[in-house]
Amino acid sequence: MSHQLKFLILILLATRPVENLIRYTNLKCNTLDPTFFTFETCNLKVQGRGIIALTAHMKLHKVPVNNVTILLSTFKKGNNGYRPFLYNISVDACDFMRNRKRYPVFAIYMNAIMPFSNVNHTCPYNHDMIVKDMVMREDMLALAPLPGGDYMFKLRLGVKNEWKSEIVSYLTTSDLWEFFKKTKSRKM
Ligand SMILES: *[C@@H]1O[C@H](CO)[C@@H](O)[C@H](O)[C@H]1NC(C)=O
Ligand SMILES: *[C@@H]1O[C@H](CO)[C@@H](O)[C@H](O)[C@H]1NC(C)=O
Ligand SMILES: *[C@@H]1O[C@H](CO)[C@@H](O)[C@H](O)[C@H]1NC(C)=O
Repeated sequence: MSHQLKFLILILLATRPVENLIRYTNLKCNTLDPTFFTFETCNLKVQGRGIIALTAHMKLHKVPVNNVTILLSTFKKGNNGYRPFLYNISVDACDFMRNRKRYPVFAIYMNAIMPFSNVNHTCPYNHDMIVKDMVMREDMLALAPLPGGDYMFKLRLGVKNEWKSEIVSYLTTSDLWEFFKKTKSRKM
């Protein structure tokens, strides 16, 4: 890659892209045990060009909850649909909230969600869990960069070792080069 090209890409990054390098394409909230959790809201909204916000409001019907397992599984789309890719991490959520430093990889993803949620505290949970207007930005995953493609992130929630609900989000990422080509053909 020429120096000129590198310089252009640097400028592009510095001036904030009009279009995100990473964005949601679909969202599914699945209730696995309606006596525990149900979803009041589960949607994606277009906030602006290429900017898509996720909102999920999960109602808790049995409180307090103080034994929570989170399973984060990531998948990448190939020729034969989504295949496991990169992570399948199961974490004791209450322990994570107490000792975040022990879970560095998991923390990258949770730290992306926290600013948009009301769950950033230690157990117990005795209120609805809400993630509101969460927008994925490329820098959130800077420590875990994803190559361009289609992804599925599955976040499963268990209470006392039984799965209760899951939030499945679909994302698409474009790598820098594709992004540069697209931007170039549109403008400049
Ligand atoms: C991911 O981990 C869960 C729980 O540890 C396990 O049940 C599941 O089979 C794993 N999935 C894959 C694709 O390895
Ligand atoms: C979440 O809570 C921790 C510990 O109280 C705090 O350091 C962090 O800044 C909080 N994050 C957000 C996004 O509120
Ligand atoms: C959570 O509940 C499961 C099943 O009852 C139990 O085996 C486990 O030890 C509990 N975890 C904690 C941290 O209390």
